[in-house]
Amino acid sequence: MPWLRDLPLPSDATSAYGSFLADLDARLRDPATDRDDLTRELLAQLLYGRAYGQLLTDAPIAALNLDPRNVTLEAEYYAATDPVKFARVKPLLWLWKNADLTPAGQSATFGIEFRRVLAGHVFKRVGRNFKCWQNVEFSVGYNMDVGDDVVVHRGVLLDDIGGIVLKDGASLSDYVSVYSHSHSVLHMPDVTLKPTVIGKGARITYHATVLAGSVVSDDAMVATGALVRGPVEPHGIAMGVPARVTRLKAREGWGEPVVDSRRDAPPLARKANPDYPDPTPPQTRLPDADREGSAPVPVPAER
Ligand SMILES: CC(C)(COP(=O)(O)OP(=O)(O)OC[C@H]1O[C@@H](n2cnc3c(N)ncnc32)[C@H](O)[C@@H]1OP(=O)(O)O)[C@@H](O)C(=O)NCCC(=O)NCCS
Repeated sequence: MPWLRDLPLPSDATSAYGSFLADLDARLRDPATDRDDLTRELLAQLLYGRAYGQLLTDAPIAALNLDPRNVTLEAEYYAATDPVKFARVKPLLWLWKNADLTPAGQSATFGIEFRRVLAGHVFKRVGRNFKCWQNVEFSVGYNMDVGDDVVVHRGVLLDDIGGIVLKDGASLSDYVSVYSHSHSVLHMPDVTLKPTVIGKGARITYHATVLAGSVVSDDAMVATGALVRGPVEPHGIAMGVPARVTRLKAREGWGEPVVDSRRDAPPLARKANPDYPDPTPPQTRLPDADREGSAPVPVPAER
């Protein structure tokens, strides 16, 4: 049984959404498009169901706040924000954020496709099949480097002012925070920007926090609620505050470099995820002696 269901919409909605999104993408590709005008017009339609000019007459304060030129975003206050790059993406970040508040934005079918179009015009790079749920926040957007098949769930905070790389197949669960800047403990204005990398197929699970400069390696997993403040080795399962790798994923055919910590436990009955061809990994604990310092990492024979 596949993990995800296919949920087709009625054909009239599918075709209306499809042409709206194709038109939006074409307008954003056109260098002559004024992104501020486009944003205020689309938001007037999505939020109030009327033209911007009409809304300005009917409800001027509501209208003025739809126009990115009349709005200040937090990133604009920071010296580290590149004003030229930010001016280009600001209207689209405003459109993204406010569209999330509408019924269209809350609908997965429309919202995910809509954000995929916007990401292509905001991020430094975005690969195939980017899937982003609602209420995700960025600092500047233009410092996001996103690979193929990346998933970002509800309420995630992506502080990309120092750069965030999400490699192919990375997944960020609900309410994860990923940072790329930090402040000196003694002198608040002393800010360090450090890119943060989430490796291929790595999963950062619910409510975890990844601090600036961390590298979560390929196929690693960050447990729920963990606080990552450094490297997480490949295939490692990092838990706790601060996060430590106390287990490694193991898959059939990987040899025997890891020790099963659950000899006395009944056979592991993990929740199967049929989208992944490997058997669900029996999770294993590193030998106690290897917990501190550099732990040996099992290398898969072939994947
Ligand atoms: C990491 C995780 C997979 C561990 O699950 P598990 O293998 O079933 O772990 P268990 O419940 O058997 O616990 C094993 C040990 O790890 C500890 N542990 C488990 N989860 C932990 C967590 N999030 N933080 C700290 N310690 C944790 C347990 O206390 C236990 O410690 P002990 O052996 O000293 O008693 C799980 O906590 C987790 O984070 N799941 C994320 C779910 C997910 O994928 N969400 C994303 C969906 S989009």
